[in-house]
Amino acid sequence: MRAVQVPQAKGAFQIVEMEIPEPPAGWVRVKVQACGICHSDSLVKDGLWPGIQYPRVPGHEAIGTVEAIGSGVEGWKTGQRVGVGWHGGHCGYCDSCRRGDFFACQIALLTTGISFDGGYAEYLNAPAKALASMPDELSAVESAPLMCAGVTTFNALRNSAARAGDLVAVLGIGGLGHLGVQYAAKMGFRTVAIARGKDKEPLARELGAAQYIDSQAQNPAAELQKLGGAKVVIATVTNADAMAATIGGLAPNGVFIVIGAAGPIQVDPLLLISGARSVKGWYSGTSIDSQDTLRFSALAGVKSRNEIYSLSQVSEAYDRMMSGKARFRVVLDMAR
Ligand SMILES: NC(=O)c1ccc[n+]([C@@H]2O[C@H](COP(=O)([O-])OP(=O)(O)OC[C@H]3O[C@@H](n4cnc5c(N)ncnc54)[C@H](OP(=O)(O)O)[C@@H]3O)[C@@H](O)[C@H]2O)c1
Ligand SMILES: [Zn+2]
Repeated sequence: MRAVQVPQAKGAFQIVEMEIPEPPAGWVRVKVQACGICHSDSLVKDGLWPGIQYPRVPGHEAIGTVEAIGSGVEGWKTGQRVGVGWHGGHCGYCDSCRRGDFFACQIALLTTGISFDGGYAEYLNAPAKALASMPDELSAVESAPLMCAGVTTFNALRNSAARAGDLVAVLGIGGLGHLGVQYAAKMGFRTVAIARGKDKEPLARELGAAQYIDSQAQNPAAELQKLGGAKVVIATVTNADAMAATIGGLAPNGVFIVIGAAGPIQVDPLLLISGARSVKGWYSGTSIDSQDTLRFSALAGVKSRNEIYSLSQVSEAYDRMMSGKARFRVVLDMAR
């Protein structure tokens, strides 16, 4: 099979021929049809995640079909359409997992494309517990980004304190943000999109934003306050100053949900104290969260807007994502 690997931290992508992997007990082999390119793949490319063993095949937005099933796996059948996202599974039985705190799982916390080879390949071996069942009405190439960009924003919003009609802002309208705007609007929130420059305004409104704030021309915190203050902000930008400039837009009791991996964020303690505001992080979700995301997306008509590349164009595709110019997600189509 053909696969794209990162040979070492900061190394250039290599397109290599590899053996098609046999799934061990508890795992399945997925024939990949499409894989989205997420900004988090830069963690593998640049060696920013601790303990990665190179060479590594990145990719955690994969959609395909089950092709071979390892021993002990029940409930999945060959030919079934599935998605594989960031969360590759956790043990489920250590103290942390039994407390529902699976991030702290010390036994088997797995991340697709980081702790095992991911979806920039024609085939991928995944733990059965990492599979999400794919609704028939969604196409692989269109929907691959729902496996990370989708589930992360959907899950952050549905687990937030925001209720229908509340003001919810999405900071950064890239791969994650453009889905975040759609989910927020479909969940019935008064949705505000915040991005740099004017050019994304018509697109953000098309995606369902009721308001648009150009963070280069306006102060996003002040603009949110003029609208009454945000109950929730989901921050998908990759820049800490952009986050710091927006936290002041929270309403009392508002929550600023950090999703983008940015450097240290400056926060005024008085702002937090005076209105019991808070800043918290959000991690994408488990495979059942991904499955819920796929189903909600099919139901509500949420769609990723993608630019499509072949596997052999991976470097160009990745650079396009990193440039911030993609509208809005970059996807590798294995059939090209
Ligand atoms: N928490 C999680 O579970 C999780 C899951 C997936 C991804 N992530 C992280 O989420 C972030 C976004 O991922 P993505 O795939 O959506 O990335 P992306 O498509 O590259 O979008 C990045 C966004 O960051 C903004 N941005 C970039 N540079 C900026 C700057 N200098 N100042 C202000 N804004 C800037 C852009 O905002 P404009 O719209 O203003 O251009 C763009 O919307 C990444 O850090 C990624 O690693 C986290
Ligand atoms: Zn991702």
